[in-house]
Amino acid sequence: MEVVPLATATDVARLAADTIEALVRRRAAAGTPAVLGLATGSTPLATYAELLARRGAGTAPSYEGVRTFNLDEYVGLPPGHEQSYLATIRRELTDGLAIPPERVHGPDPTPDTLPLAGERYEQEIRDAGGIDLQVLGIGTDGHIGFNEPGSSLASLTRIKTLTARTRRDNARFFGAEDDPGGVPHHVLTQGIATILRAGHLLLLATGEAKAAAVAAAVEGAVTASCPASALQFHPHASVILDEGAASRLTRLDYYREVWAEKPDWQGL
Ligand code: GLP
Repeated sequence: MEVVPLATATDVARLAADTIEALVRRRAAAGTPAVLGLATGSTPLATYAELLARRGAGTAPSYEGVRTFNLDEYVGLPPGHEQSYLATIRRELTDGLAIPPERVHGPDPTPDTLPLAGERYEQEIRDAGGIDLQVLGIGTDGHIGFNEPGSSLASLTRIKTLTARTRRDNARFFGAEDDPGGVPHHVLTQGIATILRAGHLLLLATGEAKAAAVAAAVEGAVTASCPASALQFHPHASVILDEGAASRLTRLDYYREVWAEKPDWQGL
């Protein structure tokens, strides 16, 4: 795992955007367009805004042929609800990059086919050749995707029940800061094993509220009680942090030194 402690959330967004664009260019040059795994939540929004700004400035790569797979989805929202993660990712990123809706995938929460949704999504990912790079945020309880503490480290895409804490954390998206009443209880999420199959994991965290979860994930024991700690098993995981999110790491000076001394050719 490579931990990259940067100064600000803007620095995090720029480095994440650089990394995504480099992959898109590399895969286009190889003739096999990139497959991107995308996270929702507020953390990656600055990265998505950066990618869109670069497209607006004419410096972005072409996203022709690129496919995207969302990490997770709410179950039980009316079709087309603006807070569905598929609607969110289209609005915040893929429409602006001109990636057509048929190449923007997410777990399908249609009630009638819910029992099959997990296996179908796994198959869609396999059919696309697997995810090259998976963007991840982290919940204050250490969840990734919607894999709440206690999720099997071997889990695949399936239905889960949100904790009260996550529903409270996400209430702001449903127009009520302190009332999680409008937040669904159930979700579909890529499993931890699904996430670990991606070629490169890019976990982004900003702000002090994430510091304890980040420290547990990066320097704590690997345990289902902190799902993000499973990243310790991945051969290519990058954790990009601003000052607040990095503030409880005990090896912070070492991570800074590694980053400062990193050879230019190496990249993330
Ligand atoms: C949400 C999402 C996760 C996200 C996390 C943190 O519930 N399902 O993918 O990483 O919680 O969200 P935020 O970035 O808004 O803090």
